[in-house]
Amino acid sequence: MKVFAEAPTGSDLLEVPCAERNGILEMMSMRRDPFAFGDDRLARFGQVSGLNALGIQMVIAAGPRAADEILMNRDKAFANGPAWSYFIGPFFNRGIMLLDFDEHRHHRHILQQAFTPSALKGYMQEMQPMIADRIERFPTGDVKLFSEFKALTLDVALEVFLGVELPKRDADKLNQAFIDTVRAGVAYVRKPVPGGRWWKGLRSRKVLEEFFYENIPAKRARETPDLFSVLCHAESDEGDTFTDADVVNHMIFVLMAAHDTSTITMSQMAYRMAKSPEWQQKAYEQSMELNPELGYDDLGKLSVIDAVMKESLRMCPPVPAQPRMAIKDTSVQGYFVPKGSFVSVPQLTNHRDPEFFTNPDMFDPERFSKERAEDKGHRMAWMPFGGGVHKCIGLYFGQMEIKTILHHLVRGYEWSVPDDYQIPMDYSSLPVPKDKLPVSLRRR
Ligand code: HEM
Repeated sequence: MKVFAEAPTGSDLLEVPCAERNGILEMMSMRRDPFAFGDDRLARFGQVSGLNALGIQMVIAAGPRAADEILMNRDKAFANGPAWSYFIGPFFNRGIMLLDFDEHRHHRHILQQAFTPSALKGYMQEMQPMIADRIERFPTGDVKLFSEFKALTLDVALEVFLGVELPKRDADKLNQAFIDTVRAGVAYVRKPVPGGRWWKGLRSRKVLEEFFYENIPAKRARETPDLFSVLCHAESDEGDTFTDADVVNHMIFVLMAAHDTSTITMSQMAYRMAKSPEWQQKAYEQSMELNPELGYDDLGKLSVIDAVMKESLRMCPPVPAQPRMAIKDTSVQGYFVPKGSFVSVPQLTNHRDPEFFTNPDMFDPERFSKERAEDKGHRMAWMPFGGGVHKCIGLYFGQMEIKTILHHLVRGYEWSVPDDYQIPMDYSSLPVPKDKLPVSLRRR
Protein backbone atom coordinates (compact mmCIF):
# COMPACT_ATOMS: atom_id res chain seq x y z
CA MET A 1 0.00 0.00 0.00
CA LYS A 2 1.15 3.53 -0.77
CA VAL A 3 2.31 5.47 2.29
CA PHE A 4 1.89 9.17 2.99
CA ALA A 5 5.49 9.70 4.12
CA GLU A 6 8.27 7.35 5.18
CA ALA A 7 8.92 7.36 8.92
CA PRO A 8 12.48 8.38 9.90
CA THR A 9 14.90 5.46 9.94
CA GLY A 10 15.13 3.84 13.32
CA SER A 11 11.84 5.32 14.60
CA ASP A 12 9.10 2.96 15.71
CA LEU A 13 6.37 5.22 14.32
CA LEU A 14 3.81 3.76 11.91
CA GLU A 15 3.49 5.04 8.34
CA VAL A 16 0.19 6.67 7.32
CA PRO A 17 -1.53 4.64 4.57
CA CYS A 18 -2.50 6.71 1.55
CA ALA A 19 -5.00 6.36 -1.31
CA GLU A 20 -3.60 5.02 -4.58
CA ARG A 21 -6.12 6.85 -6.72
CA ASN A 22 -5.87 10.46 -7.84
CA GLY A 23 -6.26 12.74 -4.83
CA ILE A 24 -8.57 15.13 -6.70
CA LEU A 25 -11.08 12.32 -7.14
CA GLU A 26 -10.82 11.64 -3.41
CA MET A 27 -11.38 15.32 -2.67
CA MET A 28 -14.40 15.44 -4.96
CA SER A 29 -15.93 12.37 -3.35
CA MET A 30 -15.39 13.99 0.07
CA ARG A 31 -17.36 17.06 -1.03
CA ARG A 32 -20.10 15.04 -2.68
CA ASP A 33 -20.85 12.85 0.34
CA PRO A 34 -18.52 13.32 3.31
CA PHE A 35 -20.34 10.64 5.33
CA ALA A 36 -19.73 7.95 2.71
CA PHE A 37 -16.19 9.27 2.23
CA GLY A 38 -15.49 8.93 5.97
CA ASP A 39 -16.93 5.40 6.09
CA ASP A 40 -14.92 4.38 3.06
CA ARG A 41 -11.69 5.75 4.54
CA LEU A 42 -12.27 3.93 7.84
CA ALA A 43 -12.98 0.67 6.01
CA ARG A 44 -9.97 0.96 3.69
CA PHE A 45 -7.33 2.44 5.97
CA GLY A 46 -8.51 2.67 9.56
CA GLN A 47 -8.64 5.88 11.57
CA VAL A 48 -5.51 7.58 10.21
CA SER A 49 -5.05 7.98 6.46
CA GLY A 50 -3.40 10.30 3.96
CA LEU A 51 -4.52 12.30 0.97
CA ASN A 52 -2.51 14.23 -1.65
CA ALA A 53 -4.51 16.65 -3.79
CA LEU A 54 -4.53 20.20 -5.13
CA GLY A 55 -1.04 20.79 -3.83
CA ILE A 56 -1.77 19.81 -0.26
CA GLN A 57 -0.75 16.74 1.71
CA MET A 58 -3.31 15.95 4.35
CA VAL A 59 -3.54 13.40 7.15
CA ILE A 60 -7.12 12.67 8.19
CA ALA A 61 -7.07 11.55 11.82
CA ALA A 62 -10.46 10.21 12.90
CA GLY A 63 -11.65 9.35 16.40
CA PRO A 64 -11.83 11.37 19.62
CA ARG A 65 -8.42 10.24 20.82
CA ALA A 66 -6.70 11.68 17.75
CA ALA A 67 -8.84 14.83 18.10
CA ASP A 68 -7.64 15.20 21.67
CA GLU A 69 -4.01 14.82 20.69
CA ILE A 70 -4.26 17.38 17.87
CA LEU A 71 -6.51 20.00 19.45
CA MET A 72 -4.94 19.98 22.92
CA ASN A 73 -1.62 20.37 21.07
CA ARG A 74 0.57 19.77 24.14
CA ASP A 75 3.75 19.68 22.07
CA LYS A 76 2.83 22.83 20.07
CA ALA A 77 3.27 20.77 16.91
CA PHE A 78 0.11 22.00 15.18
CA ALA A 79 -0.81 25.50 14.04
CA ASN A 80 -4.10 27.01 12.91
CA GLY A 81 -2.84 29.96 10.85
CA PRO A 82 -1.12 28.14 7.99
CA ALA A 83 -3.91 25.55 7.78
CA TRP A 84 -7.00 27.78 7.88
CA SER A 85 -5.22 30.43 5.76
CA TYR A 86 -5.04 27.98 2.89
CA PHE A 87 -8.85 27.82 2.83
CA ILE A 88 -9.98 31.25 3.97
CA GLY A 89 -6.82 33.36 4.43
CA PRO A 90 -7.37 36.06 1.80
CA PHE A 91 -10.96 36.56 2.97
CA PHE A 92 -10.59 36.27 6.74
CA ASN A 93 -7.08 37.62 7.10
CA ARG A 94 -5.93 37.84 10.75
CA GLY A 95 -9.24 36.66 12.14
CA ILE A 96 -8.73 35.19 15.63
CA MET A 97 -8.99 31.59 14.40
CA LEU A 98 -6.04 32.21 12.08
CA LEU A 99 -3.71 33.39 14.84
CA ASP A 100 -1.49 31.10 16.88
CA PHE A 101 0.17 30.70 20.26
CA ASP A 102 1.07 33.95 22.15
CA GLU A 103 -0.50 36.23 19.59
CA HIS A 104 -3.71 34.19 19.62
CA ARG A 105 -3.80 34.24 23.44
CA HIS A 106 -3.36 38.01 23.50
CA HIS A 107 -6.17 38.69 21.02
CA ARG A 108 -8.51 36.07 22.51
CA HIS A 109 -8.08 37.64 25.94
CA ILE A 110 -9.42 40.94 24.63
CA LEU A 111 -12.15 39.35 22.52
CA GLN A 112 -13.34 37.36 25.54
CA GLN A 113 -14.61 40.61 27.09
CA ALA A 114 -17.44 40.51 24.60
CA PHE A 115 -18.57 37.04 25.72
CA THR A 116 -18.69 37.26 29.52
CA PRO A 117 -21.93 36.11 31.24
CA SER A 118 -22.93 39.72 31.87
CA ALA A 119 -22.31 40.62 28.22
CA LEU A 120 -24.41 37.60 27.17
CA LYS A 121 -27.26 38.68 29.42
CA GLY A 122 -27.19 42.10 27.80
CA TYR A 123 -27.31 40.58 24.31
CA MET A 124 -30.19 38.36 25.38
CA GLN A 125 -32.18 41.41 26.46
CA GLU A 126 -31.61 43.07 23.09
CA MET A 127 -32.16 39.96 21.05
CA GLN A 128 -35.29 38.57 22.71
CA PRO A 129 -37.86 41.21 21.65
CA MET A 130 -36.40 41.47 18.20
CA ILE A 131 -36.60 37.70 17.64
CA ALA A 132 -40.14 37.56 19.05
CA ASP A 133 -41.24 40.32 16.70
CA ARG A 134 -39.55 38.87 13.63
CA ILE A 135 -40.92 35.38 14.19
CA GLU A 136 -44.39 36.75 14.77
CA ARG A 137 -44.14 38.17 11.24
CA PHE A 138 -42.80 34.99 9.59
CA PRO A 139 -44.61 34.16 6.34
CA THR A 140 -46.84 31.07 6.33
CA GLY A 141 -47.59 28.47 3.65
CA ASP A 142 -44.67 27.23 1.55
CA VAL A 143 -41.67 28.75 3.25
CA LYS A 144 -37.93 28.28 2.74
CA LEU A 145 -36.92 28.09 6.36
CA PHE A 146 -33.17 28.23 5.74
CA SER A 147 -33.57 31.64 4.07
CA GLU A 148 -35.77 32.92 6.90
CA PHE A 149 -33.24 31.81 9.52
CA LYS A 150 -30.39 33.34 7.58
CA ALA A 151 -32.05 36.74 7.32
CA LEU A 152 -32.97 36.63 10.99
CA THR A 153 -29.49 35.69 12.27
CA LEU A 154 -27.93 38.41 10.16
CA ASP A 155 -30.30 40.97 11.67
CA VAL A 156 -29.51 39.73 15.17
CA ALA A 157 -25.79 39.96 14.43
CA LEU A 158 -26.13 43.47 13.04
CA GLU A 159 -27.97 44.64 16.13
CA VAL A 160 -26.04 42.79 18.81
CA PHE A 161 -22.55 42.92 17.35
CA LEU A 162 -22.63 46.09 15.29
CA GLY A 163 -25.26 48.11 17.10
CA VAL A 164 -26.51 49.54 13.82
CA GLU A 165 -29.74 49.36 11.90
CA LEU A 166 -29.20 49.06 8.19
CA PRO A 167 -31.60 49.64 5.32
CA LYS A 168 -32.58 46.31 3.72
CA ARG A 169 -30.49 46.96 0.62
CA ASP A 170 -27.30 47.44 2.66
CA ALA A 171 -28.08 44.44 4.89
CA ASP A 172 -28.58 42.28 1.77
CA LYS A 173 -25.30 43.50 0.35
CA LEU A 174 -23.46 42.58 3.56
CA ASN A 175 -25.22 39.22 3.69
CA GLN A 176 -24.16 38.40 0.14
CA ALA A 177 -20.60 39.50 0.89
CA PHE A 178 -20.42 37.04 3.80
CA ILE A 179 -21.80 34.24 1.64
CA ASP A 180 -19.28 34.91 -1.10
CA THR A 181 -16.28 35.11 1.24
CA VAL A 182 -17.21 31.78 2.85
CA ARG A 183 -17.84 30.04 -0.48
CA ALA A 184 -14.57 31.33 -1.92
CA GLY A 185 -12.59 29.31 0.59
CA VAL A 186 -13.34 26.00 -1.10
CA ALA A 187 -12.95 27.17 -4.70
CA TYR A 188 -11.19 24.66 -6.95
CA VAL A 189 -9.73 27.53 -9.01
CA ARG A 190 -7.79 29.50 -6.41
CA LYS A 191 -7.09 32.53 -8.58
CA PRO A 192 -9.14 35.69 -9.19
CA VAL A 193 -10.65 34.66 -12.52
CA PRO A 194 -13.46 37.23 -13.14
CA GLY A 195 -16.85 35.77 -12.16
CA GLY A 196 -15.24 32.87 -10.27
CA ARG A 197 -15.63 32.08 -6.55
CA TRP A 198 -12.16 33.33 -5.60
CA TRP A 199 -12.67 36.62 -7.41
CA LYS A 200 -16.08 37.14 -5.81
CA GLY A 201 -14.56 36.36 -2.40
CA LEU A 202 -11.88 39.04 -2.79
CA ARG A 203 -14.39 41.64 -3.95
CA SER A 204 -16.65 40.79 -1.05
CA ARG A 205 -13.83 41.14 1.45
CA LYS A 206 -13.41 44.72 0.17
CA VAL A 207 -17.13 45.40 0.65
CA LEU A 208 -16.89 44.20 4.26
CA GLU A 209 -13.71 46.18 4.98
CA GLU A 210 -15.20 49.39 3.59
CA PHE A 211 -18.28 48.95 5.73
CA PHE A 212 -16.34 48.43 8.98
CA TYR A 213 -13.72 51.12 8.37
CA GLU A 214 -16.45 53.65 7.62
CA ASN A 215 -18.15 52.91 10.92
CA ILE A 216 -15.06 52.89 13.16
CA PRO A 217 -14.89 56.65 13.93
CA ALA A 218 -18.43 56.66 15.35
CA LYS A 219 -17.72 53.57 17.45
CA ARG A 220 -14.45 54.97 18.80
CA ALA A 221 -16.22 58.21 19.70
CA ARG A 222 -18.89 56.67 21.95
CA GLU A 223 -19.10 53.43 23.98
CA THR A 224 -22.18 51.32 23.24
CA PRO A 225 -22.99 47.79 24.43
CA ASP A 226 -22.12 45.98 21.20
CA LEU A 227 -19.12 43.89 20.17
CA PHE A 228 -17.93 46.49 17.65
CA SER A 229 -17.75 49.14 20.36
CA VAL A 230 -16.17 46.73 22.89
CA LEU A 231 -13.37 45.98 20.44
CA CYS A 232 -12.81 49.67 19.69
CA HIS A 233 -12.38 50.43 23.40
CA ALA A 234 -10.77 47.21 24.68
CA GLU A 235 -7.42 47.57 26.41
CA SER A 236 -5.06 44.80 27.52
CA ASP A 237 -3.40 44.74 30.97
CA GLU A 238 -0.34 46.35 29.39
CA GLY A 239 -2.48 49.13 27.94
CA ASP A 240 -2.38 47.78 24.37
CA THR A 241 -5.41 48.47 22.23
CA PHE A 242 -6.63 47.03 18.98
CA THR A 243 -5.68 49.00 15.87
CA ASP A 244 -8.40 49.85 13.36
CA ALA A 245 -7.15 46.96 11.25
CA ASP A 246 -7.43 44.52 14.22
CA VAL A 247 -10.99 45.66 14.89
CA VAL A 248 -11.97 45.23 11.24
CA ASN A 249 -10.34 41.80 10.96
CA HIS A 250 -11.99 40.49 14.14
CA MET A 251 -15.39 41.92 13.29
CA ILE A 252 -15.41 40.32 9.86
CA PHE A 253 -14.33 36.98 11.25
CA VAL A 254 -16.71 36.88 14.22
CA LEU A 255 -19.72 37.90 12.15
CA MET A 256 -18.94 35.19 9.65
CA ALA A 257 -18.40 32.63 12.42
CA ALA A 258 -21.67 33.57 14.13
CA HIS A 259 -23.87 33.73 11.09
CA ASP A 260 -23.74 30.54 9.03
CA THR A 261 -23.11 28.14 11.89
CA SER A 262 -26.28 29.10 13.77
CA THR A 263 -28.38 29.15 10.58
CA ILE A 264 -27.20 25.67 9.64
CA THR A 265 -27.95 24.32 13.11
CA MET A 266 -31.48 25.74 13.17
CA SER A 267 -32.20 24.39 9.69
CA GLN A 268 -31.08 20.93 10.75
CA MET A 269 -33.22 21.14 13.89
CA ALA A 270 -36.26 22.26 11.90
CA TYR A 271 -35.69 19.47 9.38
CA ARG A 272 -35.40 16.78 12.06
CA MET A 273 -38.43 18.12 13.91
CA ALA A 274 -40.42 18.06 10.66
CA LYS A 275 -39.43 14.42 10.09
CA SER A 276 -40.13 13.53 13.75
CA PRO A 277 -43.16 15.69 14.67
CA GLU A 278 -43.32 14.15 18.15
CA TRP A 279 -40.24 16.21 19.00
CA GLN A 280 -41.92 19.35 17.68
CA GLN A 281 -44.86 18.60 19.95
CA LYS A 282 -42.66 17.97 23.01
CA ALA A 283 -40.76 21.20 22.40
CA TYR A 284 -44.06 23.07 21.98
CA GLU A 285 -45.45 21.73 25.27
CA GLN A 286 -42.30 22.64 27.16
CA SER A 287 -42.08 26.13 25.68
CA MET A 288 -45.74 26.79 26.51
CA GLU A 289 -44.92 26.18 30.19
CA LEU A 290 -42.59 29.18 30.03
CA ASN A 291 -43.38 32.82 29.38
CA PRO A 292 -43.29 33.92 25.76
CA GLU A 293 -40.56 36.33 26.75
CA LEU A 294 -37.57 34.20 27.54
CA GLY A 295 -35.05 35.35 30.14
CA TYR A 296 -31.40 34.30 30.23
CA ASP A 297 -32.11 32.00 33.19
CA ASP A 298 -34.95 30.27 31.33
CA LEU A 299 -32.58 28.88 28.74
CA GLY A 300 -31.65 25.98 31.03
CA LYS A 301 -35.32 24.95 31.20
CA LEU A 302 -35.58 24.25 27.48
CA SER A 303 -34.34 20.67 27.80
CA VAL A 304 -36.24 19.40 24.73
CA ILE A 305 -34.92 22.07 22.38
CA ASP A 306 -31.49 21.55 23.96
CA ALA A 307 -31.52 17.80 23.19
CA VAL A 308 -32.76 18.36 19.63
CA MET A 309 -30.05 20.97 19.12
CA LYS A 310 -27.29 18.70 20.42
CA GLU A 311 -28.47 15.80 18.27
CA SER A 312 -28.68 18.03 15.17
CA LEU A 313 -25.17 19.32 15.86
CA ARG A 314 -24.01 15.71 16.18
CA MET A 315 -25.60 14.53 12.95
CA CYS A 316 -24.56 17.55 10.89
CA PRO A 317 -21.83 19.61 12.57
CA PRO A 318 -21.80 23.04 10.84
CA VAL A 319 -17.99 22.94 10.89
CA PRO A 320 -17.56 19.37 9.62
CA ALA A 321 -13.79 19.19 10.05
CA GLN A 322 -11.01 21.26 11.56
CA PRO A 323 -7.70 21.65 9.75
CA ARG A 324 -4.31 22.17 11.36
CA MET A 325 -0.78 22.20 10.01
CA ALA A 326 2.14 20.24 11.47
CA ILE A 327 4.84 22.86 12.02
CA LYS A 328 7.42 20.24 12.95
CA ASP A 329 7.82 16.49 12.45
CA THR A 330 5.39 14.89 14.87
CA SER A 331 3.00 11.96 15.35
CA VAL A 332 -0.72 11.29 15.82
CA GLN A 333 -1.87 8.03 17.38
CA GLY A 334 1.57 6.58 16.76
CA TYR A 335 1.66 7.52 13.06
CA PHE A 336 4.46 9.66 11.66
CA VAL A 337 3.29 13.10 10.44
CA PRO A 338 5.98 15.16 8.69
CA LYS A 339 6.36 18.93 9.06
CA GLY A 340 4.27 20.79 6.47
CA SER A 341 1.37 18.28 6.44
CA PHE A 342 -2.19 19.40 6.84
CA VAL A 343 -3.97 17.42 9.55
CA SER A 344 -7.75 17.19 9.63
CA VAL A 345 -9.98 16.40 12.61
CA PRO A 346 -13.21 15.14 11.02
CA GLN A 347 -15.91 15.67 13.65
CA LEU A 348 -18.54 14.68 11.10
CA THR A 349 -17.03 11.17 11.09
CA ASN A 350 -16.28 11.18 14.82
CA HIS A 351 -19.89 11.99 15.65
CA ARG A 352 -20.93 8.70 14.08
CA ASP A 353 -18.43 6.56 15.97
CA PRO A 354 -20.36 3.46 17.15
CA GLU A 355 -17.96 3.13 20.10
CA PHE A 356 -19.71 6.17 21.63
CA PHE A 357 -23.05 6.57 19.85
CA THR A 358 -25.63 3.78 19.57
CA ASN A 359 -27.28 3.59 16.12
CA PRO A 360 -25.34 6.69 15.09
CA ASP A 361 -27.39 7.35 11.94
CA MET A 362 -30.63 7.51 13.90
CA PHE A 363 -32.08 10.83 15.11
CA ASP A 364 -32.29 10.15 18.84
CA PRO A 365 -32.09 13.27 21.06
CA GLU A 366 -32.50 11.10 24.15
CA ARG A 367 -28.95 9.91 23.78
CA PHE A 368 -28.05 13.20 25.53
CA SER A 369 -30.21 12.42 28.57
CA LYS A 370 -28.51 12.24 31.99
CA GLU A 371 -28.96 8.46 32.04
CA ARG A 372 -27.40 7.82 28.64
CA ALA A 373 -25.05 10.79 28.23
CA GLU A 374 -23.44 9.31 25.12
CA ASP A 375 -21.67 12.60 24.44
CA LYS A 376 -19.70 12.21 27.67
CA GLY A 377 -17.98 8.92 26.69
CA HIS A 378 -14.88 10.93 25.77
CA ARG A 379 -14.35 14.69 26.03
CA MET A 380 -13.95 14.86 22.24
CA ALA A 381 -16.73 12.38 21.38
CA TRP A 382 -19.24 15.20 20.76
CA MET A 383 -17.33 18.25 19.62
CA PRO A 384 -19.32 20.51 17.28
CA PHE A 385 -17.64 23.54 18.89
CA GLY A 386 -14.13 22.14 18.59
CA GLY A 387 -11.73 21.85 21.53
CA GLY A 388 -8.50 23.24 22.96
CA VAL A 389 -7.46 26.89 22.87
CA HIS A 390 -9.42 27.63 19.70
CA LYS A 391 -12.68 26.17 21.01
CA CYS A 392 -15.58 28.26 19.79
CA ILE A 393 -15.67 31.55 21.71
CA GLY A 394 -19.30 32.06 20.68
CA LEU A 395 -20.69 28.71 21.81
CA TYR A 396 -22.87 30.17 24.55
CA PHE A 397 -24.00 33.04 22.38
CA GLY A 398 -24.83 30.65 19.55
CA GLN A 399 -26.85 28.31 21.76
CA MET A 400 -28.67 31.23 23.35
CA GLU A 401 -29.69 32.59 19.97
CA ILE A 402 -30.71 29.20 18.56
CA LYS A 403 -32.80 28.28 21.61
CA THR A 404 -34.53 31.67 21.70
CA ILE A 405 -35.48 31.44 18.03
CA LEU A 406 -36.72 27.85 18.34
CA HIS A 407 -38.68 28.72 21.49
CA HIS A 408 -40.63 31.36 19.59
CA LEU A 409 -40.98 29.21 16.50
CA VAL A 410 -42.48 26.18 18.26
CA ARG A 411 -44.85 28.35 20.28
CA GLY A 412 -46.21 30.10 17.21
CA TYR A 413 -46.08 27.54 14.41
CA GLU A 414 -46.09 23.92 13.29
CA TRP A 415 -44.34 22.82 10.15
CA SER A 416 -44.04 19.70 8.02
CA VAL A 417 -42.30 18.24 4.98
CA PRO A 418 -43.60 15.50 2.63
CA ASP A 419 -42.99 11.96 3.98
CA ASP A 420 -40.45 11.12 1.32
CA TYR A 421 -38.53 14.39 1.65
CA GLN A 422 -34.79 14.09 2.33
CA ILE A 423 -32.85 17.31 2.76
CA PRO A 424 -30.43 17.68 -0.20
CA MET A 425 -27.18 18.96 1.25
CA ASP A 426 -24.39 20.90 -0.40
CA TYR A 427 -21.13 20.02 1.37
CA SER A 428 -18.82 22.03 -0.87
CA SER A 429 -18.40 24.67 1.85
CA LEU A 430 -20.17 24.65 5.22
CA PRO A 431 -23.07 22.16 4.91
CA VAL A 432 -26.19 23.96 3.66
CA PRO A 433 -29.46 22.67 2.19
CA LYS A 434 -29.40 23.06 -1.60
CA ASP A 435 -33.14 23.74 -1.66
CA LYS A 436 -33.11 26.12 1.39
CA LEU A 437 -35.39 23.71 3.27
CA PRO A 438 -38.93 24.24 1.92
CA VAL A 439 -41.56 23.43 4.57
CA SER A 440 -45.26 23.98 4.99
CA LEU A 441 -45.49 26.45 7.88
CA ARG A 442 -48.80 26.93 9.71
CA ARG A 443 -49.75 29.17 12.59
CA ARG A 444 -50.85 27.32 15.74
C1 HEM B 1 -23.86 26.36 16.33
C2 HEM B 1 -23.05 27.36 16.21
C3 HEM B 1 -21.54 27.27 16.11
C4 HEM B 1 -20.71 26.21 15.82
C5 HEM B 1 -21.12 24.77 15.52
C6 HEM B 1 -19.35 26.70 15.88
C7 HEM B 1 -18.23 25.92 15.66
C8 HEM B 1 -16.94 26.35 15.86
C9 HEM B 1 -15.76 25.52 15.79
C10 HEM B 1 -15.75 24.04 15.48
C11 HEM B 1 -14.68 26.30 16.05
C12 HEM B 1 -13.24 25.85 16.16
C13 HEM B 1 -12.49 25.89 14.87
C14 HEM B 1 -11.05 25.41 15.02
O1 HEM B 1 -10.57 25.21 16.13
O2 HEM B 1 -10.41 25.20 13.99
C15 HEM B 1 -15.17 27.64 16.25
C16 HEM B 1 -14.36 28.73 16.52
C17 HEM B 1 -14.84 30.01 16.65
N1 HEM B 1 -16.16 30.42 16.71
FE1 HEM B 1 -17.77 29.21 16.54
N2 HEM B 1 -19.39 28.04 16.17
C18 HEM B 1 -20.70 28.42 16.33
C19 HEM B 1 -21.16 29.68 16.64
C20 HEM B 1 -20.38 30.78 16.84
C21 HEM B 1 -20.86 32.09 17.19
C22 HEM B 1 -22.34 32.42 17.40
C23 HEM B 1 -19.78 32.91 17.26
C24 HEM B 1 -19.71 34.36 17.62
C25 HEM B 1 -20.63 34.99 18.25
C26 HEM B 1 -18.61 32.11 16.99
C27 HEM B 1 -17.31 32.57 16.98
C28 HEM B 1 -16.20 31.77 16.86
C29 HEM B 1 -14.84 32.28 16.92
C30 HEM B 1 -14.43 33.74 17.08
C31 HEM B 1 -13.99 31.17 16.78
C32 HEM B 1 -12.47 31.18 16.79
C33 HEM B 1 -11.97 31.03 18.19
C34 HEM B 1 -10.45 30.99 18.29
O3 HEM B 1 -9.79 30.65 17.33
O4 HEM B 1 -9.96 31.32 19.36
N3 HEM B 1 -19.01 30.81 16.73
N4 HEM B 1 -16.54 27.65 16.16
